[in-house]
Amino acid sequence: MTADGRPHFGDLNPPTRILLAPGPTALPPSVIQALIAPITGHKDPFFLKVMDETANLLRYVYQTGNHTCMSLPGTGGAGMEASLANLIQPGDTAVVCVSGLFGERMANIVRRVGGTPKIVSAPWGKPVDPDDVRKELRNGDVRVIAAVQGETSTGVEQPLDEIGRIAQEHGAMLIVDAVATLGGMRVEPDRWGSAICYSASQKCLGAPPGVSTVTVSDQAMDYIRGRKSEVDCWYLDLDLHDRYWFAEERLYHHTAPVLLVYALREALRLIVAEGLETRYARHRIHQEALAAGLEAMEFELFADPKYRLPTVLSVCVPEGVNDSRVRSRLLDEFNIEISGGLGEFAGKMWRIGIMGYSATRSNMLTFLSAVEGLMADEGYGSPSGTAVRAANAVYAAHAGEPGLAEPLAFVPAE
Ligand SMILES: Cc1ncc(COP(=O)(O)O)c(C=O)c1O
Repeated sequence: MTADGRPHFGDLNPPTRILLAPGPTALPPSVIQALIAPITGHKDPFFLKVMDETANLLRYVYQTGNHTCMSLPGTGGAGMEASLANLIQPGDTAVVCVSGLFGERMANIVRRVGGTPKIVSAPWGKPVDPDDVRKELRNGDVRVIAAVQGETSTGVEQPLDEIGRIAQEHGAMLIVDAVATLGGMRVEPDRWGSAICYSASQKCLGAPPGVSTVTVSDQAMDYIRGRKSEVDCWYLDLDLHDRYWFAEERLYHHTAPVLLVYALREALRLIVAEGLETRYARHRIHQEALAAGLEAMEFELFADPKYRLPTVLSVCVPEGVNDSRVRSRLLDEFNIEISGGLGEFAGKMWRIGIMGYSATRSNMLTFLSAVEGLMADEGYGSPSGTAVRAANAVYAAHAGEPGLAEPLAFVPAE
């Protein structure tokens, strides 16, 4: 406090972290540049053009023919809430696939918007069995099936082809959470026949947190426009957003987070320039190297190996190792952030993001050598250099592949 009672603080001086939690992730320099570009109004012709371009880029990254591809103000949770609130009317039933925290959150939102969730569950570490979804659909009308493609709380992929087929057979609308996967692995809303697929800016897309992205099928948009009851959440009514993004009159709905949309556009442009296949390969190779390094230190990986996500690796904290002490030392001494376990796995699991601009060879090797030293201090030793050698053996096996190239920091001039 100053003498006259005004609050007084020093300059904002954040540490430069190596962000290896499952979001937020490092920002490419050209995305940071977008954040400090001159701001315009949210109805400025320049910004409206940026929105059009962003919609086009999203269509490409989602690999979809859907017209409605847009960002919403608010983090991934806004995409989740919007999807459920727009497709579920009071009294509707939704089958929710739950094998971790984010599936549980979807079921919670179904209840809040007046629906009844029928939960089809799998133990944490495994995906939901599509046959269990099929069984649940035999009893009565189901409006929506909801599933998380990449369950960040467990590091497990939920395969969606079969669940998509089941939704189509039963005339149910499929909602897919691609928050932890879009931009890091194959996301195919058209192939799955999904009504809505949503994601967030701050994970594999490589933009700052603050906006979510959604793609909505034309049939789902028609359904939303024809609902008997109004969407109970005005702010996330997808038809109102659609009219701001795409209608001729660009109907005012909210003051768009202009700079965040610039940043999203730039992040998407980098993804397109890198190429989806190269980008997916990059995530896969770094995950493989990281997993090899951790296994060389005799860590047990948590997720069923058949369904291990390329974008989030979950690993069990060995008995006797102090989870929070190691993670604090990683942050304080090495500037490395990873995440701990959630729910019943708090204190027992680490979750490491292999995402976007953070998914690089130097980040994986720096993390592995840091952990190796810290684990020795915890009395959990492996011969020094074992983890890095194992990871480097994976890199050597992929030598020359496009996925080993560094992520793009900017798009070179044509
Ligand atoms: C699978 C999944 N869904 C939804 C969310 C919620 O996103 P946000 O934290 O951006 O609101 C997260 C966040 O980690 C997530 O991993």
